[in-house]
Amino acid sequence: MMKNKLPVKHLIQHDRGVSVCGLGFVGSTIAAVLLRHGYSVVGLDVKDSVVKLANRGKTHTLEPGVAETFETALRQGRFHATTNPAQAYASSSVKVVAVPVGVKQNKPDLSILTASVSTLAKYLKLGDSIVVSPTIPVGTSRKLLVPLVEEISSLTADRDFNYVYNPERISYGQAIADFEENYPLIISGIGQRSLKFAEKFYSPLTRKGVIRMSSTDAAEAEKTFEGIYRDVNIALANELGSFCENHGIDFWEIRSAANSQPYSHIHKTGLGVGGFCIPVYPYFLINVAGESGIKPKMTMLARRINDSMPGYHVQNVARLFANSSVAFKDRKVALLGLAFRGDVPDKRLSPTYDVIREFSKFGPTIFVHDPLILSDRDLPSSVVLTSKMSEALENADIVMVCTDHSIYRTLSANYIRKYSKKEPVVFDGRAILDPKKFIGYPLIIAGKGDKVPMYLEGPLKP
Ligand SMILES: NC(=O)c1ccc[n+]([C@@H]2O[C@H](COP(=O)([O-])OP(=O)(O)OC[C@H]3O[C@@H](n4cnc5c(N)ncnc54)[C@H](O)[C@@H]3O)[C@@H](O)[C@H]2O)c1
Repeated sequence: MMKNKLPVKHLIQHDRGVSVCGLGFVGSTIAAVLLRHGYSVVGLDVKDSVVKLANRGKTHTLEPGVAETFETALRQGRFHATTNPAQAYASSSVKVVAVPVGVKQNKPDLSILTASVSTLAKYLKLGDSIVVSPTIPVGTSRKLLVPLVEEISSLTADRDFNYVYNPERISYGQAIADFEENYPLIISGIGQRSLKFAEKFYSPLTRKGVIRMSSTDAAEAEKTFEGIYRDVNIALANELGSFCENHGIDFWEIRSAANSQPYSHIHKTGLGVGGFCIPVYPYFLINVAGESGIKPKMTMLARRINDSMPGYHVQNVARLFANSSVAFKDRKVALLGLAFRGDVPDKRLSPTYDVIREFSKFGPTIFVHDPLILSDRDLPSSVVLTSKMSEALENADIVMVCTDHSIYRTLSANYIRKYSKKEPVVFDGRAILDPKKFIGYPLIIAGKGDKVPMYLEGPLKP
C-alpha cells in the first residue's frame, strides 16, 4: 500500500486540469464556470448523446451561457468531453463528481454516485483532489465515499489526496450567476488539508466568497436542510390554501397582506412539488434519522401534504362534473405544462405525472402541452404530448395550468374559447392567470376560494 505523506503545500496546489463527471445541469454548469476561470476541463458522461453535443459546443440543459462557454473553450483547445473515464481522469488532478442522487421507494439511491466514485478511485493519483457536489444524506462522504476511495486507490484521504464536499446550490436559468455571483459557496473537507484546498480552489470562482463548514457531515446537512425548509413551507402554504378554498377566502390576498410583516414568509400554494431536489432531500433526512430510531414528523407530514396536492385538485375539478349527463371518460383534459417548473425543460418528478394518474382514474382523453419538452417516454401511451397549444385546447372540457411557463401567463378566456371551440373549465394550479382576462368565465385559481357552480348540461356557466 502506497502511503507517501505529502507536504500540505503540494496538496493545496493544483494544475489547471479538471475533470467533471456528469455533464447534466449541475456538471455542465460547473464545467462552464471552471472554463470561464481559465481551467482546462474534460467532461465525462455515460451518455454518448451528451458527450457528442458537448463536443459540438452545445448542451441539452439549455442553461444560458453554458453552450457559449463550451464553444469558446473548444476552439481554444481547453475543453472536450468523453465517455472514457481513463481519458478524463489521466489528464486531471481535480476530479469533480456531479452525477444524480435520487430516491427509490423513498430510500436514497446512491448507486450512480458510488459507481462513479469507484471508477474514479481506480484512476486516482497521489496529490489529486476529489470534489463531490450532488446533495447526499448526512454521513455519506465520511462513512461511505471516502472509505470506498481509500480502499480502491490504496491512498489515504487528506494525506495522499483531498476530499471535498461542495453541495451545489444553483437554479435553472441563472445557474452560472448563482455560482459566481449570487450566493456564497458551501465548502467542506474530510480534513484540514482538504478544506484548505477547497478554499483555494473555490474562492476565486465566486464573488460572495465561501462558507467553510466544520465537517462534510455539516455541509451535507446544510443542503438537505435548504430543501426541507422549502418543502415544509410549501406544505404549510398548501394547507392554508386548501383552508381558504373551503372557506371561500383568497389565499393570495391574505398571503400578500401577511407577508408585509417582516417575520412572515408564507410560500405559494399550488398543484404540488416536483424536480430532483425538493421532493427528494426530505427522504435523506427521514432515512438517516430513521437509522437512529428518530422520526422527523414535520418533514414526513410535509411530504405527504405536498404529494397529496395533485389528487386533491383533480378531485375538486372532477367533482364539478359529477351531475353531468356526459360521462367523464368522454371528456377531454388539456394539461398545460409537463416541466416541474416554469421555463425549464426538466420534467423529473413533475406533479403533472400525478395529475395524469389522478385524471386517468376517470378515463378522459388527456393531452399535455409543453413548449420545451417535445418528447417523453415516461408518459402513458394513451396521453398525447404536443407543443401546439391549438391541438391541446381543441374540444377540451377542462384546461389545467400545471406549470408556470411564461407563455401561459398571457392566456385569456377569448383565446381559450377560440381554440377549444367550447368553454372549458380552466383550473390554474399555479395562480399565474390574470382574472381580469377571465371575467364571466369558469376560472378556478388554486387557493383563491372562488366558488364555481357544478357542471350540469351544456357549457358551464359562471
Ligand atoms: N437540478 C438541480 O436543480 C440541482 C441543483 C443543485 C444540486 N443538484 C444536485 O446535483 C445532482 C445532479 O443533478 P443534475 O440536475 O445535474 O442531474 P442530471 O440528470 O441533469 O445530470 C446528471 C448527468 O450525469 C450523467 N451520468 C449518470 N451516471 C453517470 C456515470 N456513472 N458516469 C458519468 N456520468 C453519469 C448523466 O448522463 C447526466 O448527464 C442532483 O442529484 C442533485 O443532488 C441539482
